[in-house]
Amino acid sequence: MRENQNLNAPHNPSAKQNAHSNTAHAPTHLIDSKNLTPEYTAKLIETAKRIIQSPSDFSDSCRQKIMATLFYEPSTRTRLSFESAMLGLGGNVIGFSQSSSSSAAKGESVADTIRVINSYADICVIRHFKEGAAKVAADFSNIPVINAGDGGHQHPTQTLTDLFTISQEKRRLENLTVGFCGDLKFGRTVHSLVETMSFYNGNRFILISPDELKLPEHIKDDLTKRASRFCETADLTAAMPELDILYMTRVQKERFFNEEDYVRLKDTYILDNQKLQNAKRDLAILHPLPRVNEIAAEVDSDSRALYFKQVEYGRYIRMALILDLLSKQGAN
Ligand code: NCD
Repeated sequence: MRENQNLNAPHNPSAKQNAHSNTAHAPTHLIDSKNLTPEYTAKLIETAKRIIQSPSDFSDSCRQKIMATLFYEPSTRTRLSFESAMLGLGGNVIGFSQSSSSSAAKGESVADTIRVINSYADICVIRHFKEGAAKVAADFSNIPVINAGDGGHQHPTQTLTDLFTISQEKRRLENLTVGFCGDLKFGRTVHSLVETMSFYNGNRFILISPDELKLPEHIKDDLTKRASRFCETADLTAAMPELDILYMTRVQKERFFNEEDYVRLKDTYILDNQKLQNAKRDLAILHPLPRVNEIAAEVDSDSRALYFKQVEYGRYIRMALILDLLSKQGAN
């Protein structure tokens, strides 16, 4: 079965797609954060900044274009952010927000669904509970496919959101000490961001988690291969004074095999004003959201808390991505 192939294989967006022998051109997709080179990210950030400066210049850019959002897993921010981005570009949106309301409930495969969607839409955004599902969709698609999260694997557009936020708020993407805290094992936003930030010079990562939720070995191997500096600790308070960025994450309940482990680990880290006492004055506190207990509400009024601003940046960088992928599609 295609869905059981090596799901960690890097996706080559320029490779000829193999699903349709009559494919006239190969679409470019965003499936894996490996494709977010510093050059590509910089290009999208430039476009996003232009959109913020002059949204009306872009309000007709996607007229007559349709985006399909295929969400097999719950989402608030990501789906609405994509939909709002497409509407802001003058385009239209179709799709489903739960697999129970799609033909997946009748047993349809991702491969078949994407072939159907190809007849209805110009670009597709997919979130799926299975690692590798977005790549399967891309392999069977003639229209650009964007991975909006595949199981505990990757979430490259959250990474674009995070990079845009960091670049705007810290004025650089290099020479930063970044603390990732919480569920580093199942947190797909962490997997994509740590990998992408290792493409920039001088970044250092402090991986803060309980033993059971450490970053997967294959990601640490990749960091080592790239000669990225990182260390692991369970102690958030001790790491705090060193951090330029603190990336808090939710313990991913839906990826646990048993409830007991989740209950034991879920409140390991709760960021509050007390824990921030030794933090830098210009620390940036990020969180992909949704938050459960890991950041106390009292932190929200701290000027270093950027997680709601992050949501806003997400819409603009997704607009830039949609524009870029559709322009490549048009150029083929
Ligand atoms: C994240 C996700 O879905 O992985 N949320 C998001 O897209 N903003 C993080 C999470 O669910 O914890």
